[in-house]
Amino acid sequence: MRASIVGSGYVGLVTGMGFVKLGNDVVFIDIDDEKIKMINQATPPIYEEGLEELMKEFKGRYKATKDYGDSILNSDVTFIAVGTPSREDGSIDLTYIKKAAEEIGKALKEKEDYHVVVVKSTVVPGTTEEVVKPIIEKHSGKKAFEDFGLAMNPEFLREGVALKDFLNPDRIVTGVQDERTRQILEKLYEPIDAPKLIVDIKTAEMIKYASNAFLATKISFANEIGNICKTLGIDSWKVFEGVGLDRRISSRFFRSGIGFGGSCFPKDVKALIRKAEELGEEPLILKAVIEVNEKQPLKLIGLLKKHVQDLKGETVGVLGLAFKPNTDDIRETRAIIIVRKLLEEGAKVVAYDPKAMQNFKHLFPQIEYVNSAQEVLERTDVILIATEWSEFEELDFSGKIVIDGRRIKNAEKTAKIYEGVCW
Ligand SMILES: NC(=O)c1ccc[n+]([C@@H]2O[C@H](COP(=O)([O-])OP(=O)(O)OC[C@H]3O[C@@H](n4cnc5c(N)ncnc54)[C@H](O)[C@@H]3O)[C@@H](O)[C@H]2O)c1
Repeated sequence: MRASIVGSGYVGLVTGMGFVKLGNDVVFIDIDDEKIKMINQATPPIYEEGLEELMKEFKGRYKATKDYGDSILNSDVTFIAVGTPSREDGSIDLTYIKKAAEEIGKALKEKEDYHVVVVKSTVVPGTTEEVVKPIIEKHSGKKAFEDFGLAMNPEFLREGVALKDFLNPDRIVTGVQDERTRQILEKLYEPIDAPKLIVDIKTAEMIKYASNAFLATKISFANEIGNICKTLGIDSWKVFEGVGLDRRISSRFFRSGIGFGGSCFPKDVKALIRKAEELGEEPLILKAVIEVNEKQPLKLIGLLKKHVQDLKGETVGVLGLAFKPNTDDIRETRAIIIVRKLLEEGAKVVAYDPKAMQNFKHLFPQIEYVNSAQEVLERTDVILIATEWSEFEELDFSGKIVIDGRRIKNAEKTAKIYEGVCW
């Protein structure tokens, strides 16, 4: 099949390259000239394991462009994978979705063959039918579910293992209304062996939010219990090992620490909160999930101050800036809250991350970045750990004060003074 993908960020690029690997021809549509250039040179604009190799292997089977018209004319199905960030009040910002829908509509006006449009971006329930559909209909002069197909297909991939997740997902959820669209999507996903759930469009949108909200809740719950454990001198990781053995609960997402970041959980939980409030519901649990998560990184600074009372003029090393290992993504990373607080307290920050320093520099040009974790250790005896990159396990922390937000076992073993945030 021929697929066009609107938005070639983490989701768009991985999805598109996944479809290429499955034997389809793909065209990426983006508004960012630099990304287009890089994709056409088979160079990934983001870091994701295995992506570069895949792009090199299949060079020629995909291309990137700004041109909606040509791409839609020459493809059978278009996925919308543009960003859906938070607005100031936490509600979903649909600016990119609306613009993409408008451009798709204009392109569809010129196309005679049946074409399927699939919303893959995370959008609050109702968006596909109440926002995307009327925009495409207005600009194409065509009718959804008759002249063109419309579906919602949420993405569940995890950054860091995104390609693996795309090709081996826990499930594929598709929200459809018309039979023809269902068949086309079934064919596209046929090679992937996974449970496939077909629901209506609004349900598909909600499944994504309910999944992310549940996982975020599990983390904040683990952190709240972890904080109580820390005060009681109990290792919360042992506690959750015991709790997780209950098959009704499972041990996943119980790593208590400094909380969740990334481009999804914080913004999706906030968007669901705003949507619920708009509907007159009071989402008490979801609000608490965010509140715990915002406070949690500051626990690291609180623990640091037990050992270094005055941070003014103190050089503090920060290991890890990405919101999790194996990605260069720093959106909502807990390191932002930590570094901001350190600077407020007058500390000098020396930071290292294997992949995310370039991105972090845009936010914090004033801190010092070094080329290795070892160099951080050479520069200071006071270390905070904000991301669990596996290479940090190789370090010898002898003589150091380490406050650990993620649990690096070797730090626990070798540091002079060691504090874990929830253990
Ligand atoms: N990142 C994840 O792990 C993840 C996982 C599942 C779902 N999602 C959801 O997928 C969506 C995309 O997320 P992402 O992380 O890939 O975002 P991203 O910011 O990395 O990528 C978005 C891309 O869209 C492009 N774009 C913006 N407007 C455009 C337009 N009008 N036409 C063409 N391209 C345009 C941008 O230039 C950018 O390259 C979001 O809704 C997100 O919530 C993300």
